[in-house]
Formats: sequence, C-alpha cells, structure tokens
Amino acid sequence: MGQFDMVKDFFLGISRSRIALVGAMLVTVVTPLLLGYMLVDTLWHVKNPYFGGAVYLLLGPVFLGGLAMIFVGSFIFRGTREVHLFTLEYLRKYFTEPQLFGRLRRNVFLIVLLTSINFTVFSLFLYRAYHYMESTTFCGQFCHKVMNPEFTAYQNGPHSRVTCVECHIGSGADWFVKSKISGARQLLAVVANTYPRPIATPVHGLRPARDTCEKCHRPELFHGDKLVVKNRFLDDEKNSVIHDVLLMKIGSAGDRAQSSHGIHWHVAPENSITYQATDHSRMVIPEVRLKTKDGKEVVFRTPDAEQLLGAASGKAEDREMDCIDCHNRPSHVYLSVEDALDRKLLEGAIPSGLPFIKRQALAAVTAKYPSSEAAQTGIAETLTKWYQANQAELIKQKPQLLAQAISGAQTAYAQNVFPEMNIGWGTYVKQIGHGEDFNIGCFRCHDDRHKSADGRTISADCNTCHTMLAMEEANPSILKTLRGE
Ligand code: HEC
Ligand code: HEC
Ligand code: HEC
Ligand code: HEC
Ligand code: HEC
Repeated sequence: MGQFDMVKDFFLGISRSRIALVGAMLVTVVTPLLLGYMLVDTLWHVKNPYFGGAVYLLLGPVFLGGLAMIFVGSFIFRGTREVHLFTLEYLRKYFTEPQLFGRLRRNVFLIVLLTSINFTVFSLFLYRAYHYMESTTFCGQFCHKVMNPEFTAYQNGPHSRVTCVECHIGSGADWFVKSKISGARQLLAVVANTYPRPIATPVHGLRPARDTCEKCHRPELFHGDKLVVKNRFLDDEKNSVIHDVLLMKIGSAGDRAQSSHGIHWHVAPENSITYQATDHSRMVIPEVRLKTKDGKEVVFRTPDAEQLLGAASGKAEDREMDCIDCHNRPSHVYLSVEDALDRKLLEGAIPSGLPFIKRQALAAVTAKYPSSEAAQTGIAETLTKWYQANQAELIKQKPQLLAQAISGAQTAYAQNVFPEMNIGWGTYVKQIGHGEDFNIGCFRCHDDRHKSADGRTISADCNTCHTMLAMEEANPSILKTLRGE
C-alpha cells in the first residue's frame, strides 16, 4: 500500500527531481525569513531602503522562484514508474478505492495547510512589495547617488508630504505597468553606470499633469488675485533688503459656466493650447496654436518660425500645454543662488547682522568645487579667510556669527548643488515667471514676437500677468498700507 501514499509520493516526487529539491530547500529556508522581515516591516515601517530591497527584491523573488521550481520539478517527474503523481490513472485510483479515499481526506489537511501558508506568504509579499515599490524611500533613496538631488530638493519643496508616485505614476494600471518597465530600464542604467548626469529635463515621458495634479488641485475653482511679496538682500555692507510686491492675476480655469480668465485661463476646459518646440528642453517655441470654444483656431508664429521648423524637419515636438509648462518645478525646487541665500538670510540661518555676508557668501558658494565635501570645506575656508582679513575685531567678539553664516551658506549649497551629478546653480531652469532677462518661462511665448495672421500677439505687457505694486523698494508704501502702519 505504501506506494499509494500520496503525501509520501509527493515528497518522493520532489526528492527525485533535483530542480524541485532545490526549490523546496529554498522555500523552506526563505519562508520564515521572509515572513519575519515582512512582519517587522509592517509593524515598524523600516525606513532603510536597502532593508526593503533585500526583502522585496531578493528574498521575495527567491521564494517565488522556489515555488515555481517545486511545481516544474514535480511535473517533469510525473509518469515515471515509482512516482505516479499527476497521472490520471493514479488520481482515479485514489478517488475510487474507498480505503485510499479515506487516507486522501486525512492528507488533504496537510496539503491545505501547506498551501495556505504559501498563499499567505505570497499575498502578503505581493501587498508589501507593491507598497515598498511605491514608497518614497524606494524611489528617492534606493539609487542613492542618482536620486540624491531630486530627493533633497523634494524634501525642501512644498510637496514633501506627497509621495513620488502620486505625481510620477498616478492611478490606473496602465501607468503602473509603464512605470515599472521604465523603472527596470533605469535600474539597468544605474547598474551599467550609463545614466545621464544630470538627468535631462523636461521629462518627455511624464504622465500628463492634468491626470496627477488635478487629483489635489482644481484651478477651475481658483478665483481672485494672489499677493506675492519677494524679499531680496543686497550686496552692501548692511545686507539691505528690498521688496518686489506683485498682485499675481492667477485667475481661474472657469467652472460651472463661469468664465475663465487670468493665468489659469490656459488650462480652462474650453481652451486648448498646443505648441511646437524645436529643442529637447522646450525653450525654443516658434509656433503656438490656440483653439477656443467656438472651434476657431488662432496660430501665433515668430518671424523665424518657418526657418526653425524647417530646420527641425518634422522632428519638432507637438505638445498640448498643461500645468508642467509653467509649474515645471513643483516638487524638485532647486533655487537660484540669489534665492537660496536670500531664503537663508530671511530665516536667520545666515545672520543678516554680519557685514557684507550676502556678497561674501555669494562669492563662496559660486566658486567651482569638484565634490560636495570639497565645497563644504572650501566655503568654510573662503569665508573664514575673508572675515579674518577684513572684520577681525568683530568675529573675535562674536565668533558665533561667522560660524552660523558658514553653516547657513554650506546648507544653501548642499540643498541645491550636486557636483557628483553635474548639477550646478541654475542647471534646472524654473519656467514660472521670466527670469531677470525676460527670455525664459512665460516669455518663451509672451514675447510680443508671436503674431497671428490678423496681427494679434501673445502679450508681453507687464500688466498682463501681474500688477506691479512695488519694484525693488526698501520700504514700499503698499506694504505699510497692508500692515496698517
Ligand atoms: C508634486 C509632484 C511631484 C512629486 C511629489 C515628485 N515629483 Fe519628480 N518631478 C515632477 C515633475 C513635474 C517633474 C518634471 C519636470 C520637468 O519635466 O521639467 C519631475 C522630475 C523628476 C526627475 C527628473 C529630473 C528633474 O529634477 O527634473 C526625477 C529623477 C524625479 N522627478 C524623481 C522624483 C522622486 C525620486 C520623487 C520622490 C522623492 C519625486 N520625483 C516626487 C513632479 C513631482
Ligand atoms: C497628493 C496631493 C497633491 C498632488 C498630486 C499635487 N499637489 Fe500641489 N500641493 C499639495 C498640497 C497639500 C500643497 C500645499 C503645501 C503647503 O502649503 O505646504 C500643494 C501646493 C502646491 C502649490 C503652491 C506651492 C507654493 O509654493 O505655495 C503649487 C503651485 C502646486 N501645489 C502645484 C502642483 C502641481 C503642478 C502638481 C502636479 C505636478 C501638484 N501640485 C500635485 C498637494 C498636491
Ligand atoms: C500659464 C502658466 C500656468 C499654468 C498652465 C498653470 N499654472 Fe498654476 N500658477 C501659475 C502662476 C504664475 C501661479 C502663481 C505663482 C506665484 O505664487 O508666484 C500659479 C499658482 C498655482 C497654485 C497656487 C495657488 C495659490 O493660491 O497659491 C496652484 C495650486 C497651481 N497654480 C496649480 C496649477 C495646476 C494644477 C495646473 C494645471 C491644471 C496649473 N496650475 C496650471 C501659472 C500656471
Ligand atoms: C506655450 C505658450 C505660452 C506660455 C509658455 C505661456 N502662455 Fe500665457 N498665453 C498664451 C496664449 C496663446 C495666450 C492667448 C493670447 C491671446 O489670445 O491674445 C495667453 C494668454 C495669457 C493671459 C491672458 C489670459 C486671459 O485672461 O485672456 C495671461 C494672464 C497669461 N497668458 C499668463 C501667462 C503666464 C503667467 C505664463 C508663465 C507662467 C504664461 N502665460 C505662459 C500662451 C502661453
Ligand atoms: C506672461 C506673464 C508675465 C509678463 C508679461 C510679465 N511678468 Fe513679471 N512675473 C510673471 C510671473 C509669473 C512672476 C512670478 C514668478 C514667481 O512666482 O517666482 C513674475 C515676477 C516678476 C517680478 C518679481 C521678481 C522675479 O523675477 O521673480 C518682477 C520684478 C517682474 N515680474 C517684473 C515684470 C516686468 C517689469 C514686466 C514687463 C516687462 C513683466 N514682469 C512681465 C509673469 C509675467
């Protein structure tokens, strides 16, 4: 009768096949480890990216591979003389002979137990692995060197509590699959060390922003203007502050038959703005097309459009405008050197009471350094040398002023410049606004050079987008009024 013991036959089947045997060994060793680690991770949310990597990218696949090997191994072995498992004849015998059927029932318990353990581990693994792959820890820190700039800038941006996947993948299975394919390609590039430094922007495969941003923001519900006050520190002895005060016409994308107007008019449902860019970075835009509700299309072209589009010979990118054409740095906010230092001065991380600190810090952080470490020591040395030579008395009395200034300047550098990835000041251009030279951002289109057939232009008038309430003033009366002084 021994030859008809199903459980015994099952193990015999496994042991006779080398593949299945190795598989069984792997599963036996890995199951308790995997289960234990997943429990630890579930209960305590381990933040170390390599812990997750070891569990979900190594142990998990080994477990799945082991199960597959058992299955395949036992199948390959079916039909041999000693082990008849999986043959129709064998099974028929078990189900028809009463004595054998009784034993079968007892054995069913064992099989159900084993299967349910595997099934539990398997589904827990799928669930946890999915969450791990969607975590900011995995996206931002697993390939530490490559993602360090984005992760750092992300943590200093307004979206540091929004996960990477909410913007980069969004909901739906199609983008999930796309992202995993592209993720696998990126992982290979990291392993082969062929990834670009810096990572090029704009990201051409990015999911249309309307699918992601609008899960949280609804520009059609915006209304009114937004008061924007900018503070800038000058490079004089007192580090004097001046202000720009603007009333930003952010407008509305229109809702419930309310008309759209102002800056968010571009993304109103009744408008469609498409443009042709002739370079990878979308800085050169010779043609803009506007389609309105009544189906009319207006085409705005620069005087050299023909020539530029001809030179691109059909390779120009044709793109529908969305949030990212203005908000291209919603999350990875790399500041300009002026903005970075001004912010530190405003927060007090760099003491504005230290004479000439804006000017000297600017010189220290804009020097060329081969690495992040070299920059940290270089900034400290440059500032110490200058203040010892020019403000010896002051820093003797108040050494903490200089120490604080050095630390603030070092932080400003570390948050925005990453020599290892060839990211310097201003490598990533911010398209919201126009820069000091009025040649980027909005002014890629709003330059009065884009003309329609009937002579209309995309306006560069200073009051199109904002009302200037004060420009570079030390003590603007508008701020006094607003503060009730
Ligand atoms: C609020 C939305 C948002 C979040 C959250 C976000 N990103 Fe991005 N990210 C963007 C946008 C938009 C771009 C594209 C910029 C462009 O095309 O000019 C981008 C670009 C990138 C780039 C290309 C290089 C660059 O700096 O432009 C990388 C890499 C990146 N993101 C990684 C991450 C990682 C890692 C996280 C999480 C730690 C993350 N992102 C979180 C919106 C987001
Ligand atoms: C999961 C929700 C979520 C998603 C997705 C999201 N945001 Fe936000 N966003 C927020 C929250 C919350 C804030 C407010 C943060 C604060 O004030 O600290 C914010 C703030 C902003 C601000 C104001 C920033 C500032 O400096 O005051 C802008 C602009 C913005 N988001 C644009 C975008 C764009 C563009 C996208 C798509 C690429 C996007 N957001 C995707 C939740 C989100
Ligand atoms: C034509 C350029 C442009 C487009 C397109 C655009 N925005 Fe804006 N958005 C702006 C500007 C400019 C501001 C004001 C920035 C400031 O505070 O200085 C702004 C402000 C915002 C704010 C902050 C509002 C507040 O009250 O502080 C959010 C959130 C925002 N936009 C989300 C979006 C989303 C989501 C989309 C896409 C559906 C979008 N924007 C499309 C230019 C644009
Ligand atoms: C891809 C080209 C493009 C870019 C980039 C662009 N715009 Fe526009 N914008 C247009 C077009 C086209 C019009 C419509 C011009 C017309 O009909 O006269 C327009 C109109 C406007 C209007 C008037 C809307 C109304 O109420 O009628 C405002 C305000 C505006 N843009 C602000 C901005 C701001 C701010 C930025 C940058 C953050 C910006 N635009 C970037 C193409 C662009
Ligand atoms: C097409 C829209 C648009 C036009 C036209 C425009 N601006 Fe602006 N401007 C902006 C936006 C958007 C910002 C805000 C950028 C930000 O939030 O950082 C800005 C910011 C500014 C600032 C604050 C400092 C800075 O650079 O951030 C000044 C000063 C300024 N604009 C002056 C002008 C002057 C002068 C003109 C006319 C020659 C003009 N702008 C035309 C959209 C425009």
